[in-house]
Amino acid sequence: MAADQSGVFSGEGFAPDDHTQDAPSDPANNRPNGVSRREFVGAAAVAGATLISAAGAFGQSRSDLEAGRSDDYASDPGPENDALLALNPDPNRPPFTDRGTLPPFWYGFALTPKRLQAGGWTHQVTERELPLSKDLAGVNMRLTAGSFRELHWHLADEWAIMLAGKARVSVMQPNGKMFIDDVEKGDLWYFPAGYPHSIQGLEGAGCEFLLVFDQGDFSEDDTFLLSEMLAHIPPEVIQKNMGWSRQEWDQLPAETLYIFPAELPGPIENDKRFLGSRLETENQYTFHGAMTMKPLAETAGGSARVIDSRNFPASRNIATGIVTLRPGALRELHWHPNGSEWQYWIQGKGRMTVTMTGARARTVDFNAGDVGLVPNMAGHYIENTGSEDVIFLEMFKTSRYQSISVNEWIARMPDKMAQVHLKLPLSPIRRVPASQYVVLPK
Ligand SMILES: [Fe+2]
Ligand SMILES: [Fe+2]
Repeated sequence: MAADQSGVFSGEGFAPDDHTQDAPSDPANNRPNGVSRREFVGAAAVAGATLISAAGAFGQSRSDLEAGRSDDYASDPGPENDALLALNPDPNRPPFTDRGTLPPFWYGFALTPKRLQAGGWTHQVTERELPLSKDLAGVNMRLTAGSFRELHWHLADEWAIMLAGKARVSVMQPNGKMFIDDVEKGDLWYFPAGYPHSIQGLEGAGCEFLLVFDQGDFSEDDTFLLSEMLAHIPPEVIQKNMGWSRQEWDQLPAETLYIFPAELPGPIENDKRFLGSRLETENQYTFHGAMTMKPLAETAGGSARVIDSRNFPASRNIATGIVTLRPGALRELHWHPNGSEWQYWIQGKGRMTVTMTGARARTVDFNAGDVGLVPNMAGHYIENTGSEDVIFLEMFKTSRYQSISVNEWIARMPDKMAQVHLKLPLSPIRRVPASQYVVLPK
């Protein structure tokens, strides 16, 4: 899987017409919420009427919007949270092209309370914090050297990227084989729902990572823990099941462990030798070097790497783009035909406009540690407005990454079709980049 020589985003079936490959057998299921086409059209008509009247009630013509930028109309003599405004200038003084009301599509991990205990901490941004986030939820976690996230399992699939340090992860399959590996910054893992697993910080400063779950309402407080299960099984049943005496049962943890300090493990070769023929070697649940692998698209403006079920088969239900934007560069205007986009900002500073039905559009600023959410099919771009590279994750609850480029669509329009829609002469229309470059300038 490699970028072609022009840097155009077209390798390995990433072309827009590729979505036939994972289209559901019932085309109606490709509609939001799986409603039938008839239901969808009907609901869209009702929703559209509501949105249009709401946008109308917002009462902003283009001249109103432009006038608001002149004189001192934007002045604000009352109280202000200057620190927050400095981080988020676009909503305070929106581009005149913004219009109407959109649900919030920005949240910051910095706003969420940390569950802090001996061994590390964790906090989460889910559908509860960001109501549009129905598909995916994120958890940011830190484990100091040797510390464990307790052995556990859960209802959702778990995707992860290492943000700092090193960790040892293990996961057991239903056939009793265990996969174990050490991961470091830029490595990924993927654990299917229900498979029991562990995470342990390694030598040095331990680790920090981002977990992404394929359920928007996932909660890190609702996972199945080994300690909790054993503490609530009658001791005589434990004796029959494990062969442990009542005195041994009494030594089991009476309270939840969740995150806790422990000694550093030995070399991973020792663990693999212990597992012997029970070591899983066929299925790879980790992916190394996601941030340094050869980009699928590379231009003067930056690069995009894609990891999905095609190059990481374990990642069966989450597809990821890792995008780097140089200062001033643009993740081109586009949308995704197969899911809402959950973003995590790893580095830098930028802004995104989201355009919706009913002539609504809003622009919001992002910084490292923030989460963005683009509703299913909504148009958007991301612009680096800072002085260092932006690095962010585009994540989808799907097996395959896909995006539709507006430039590419314009380039495919026959002359007259393009001219009557854009009201432009042909020469500027044909200046538009003719392929999906992903990151501009090309
Ligand atoms: Fe987990
Ligand atoms: Fe996107």
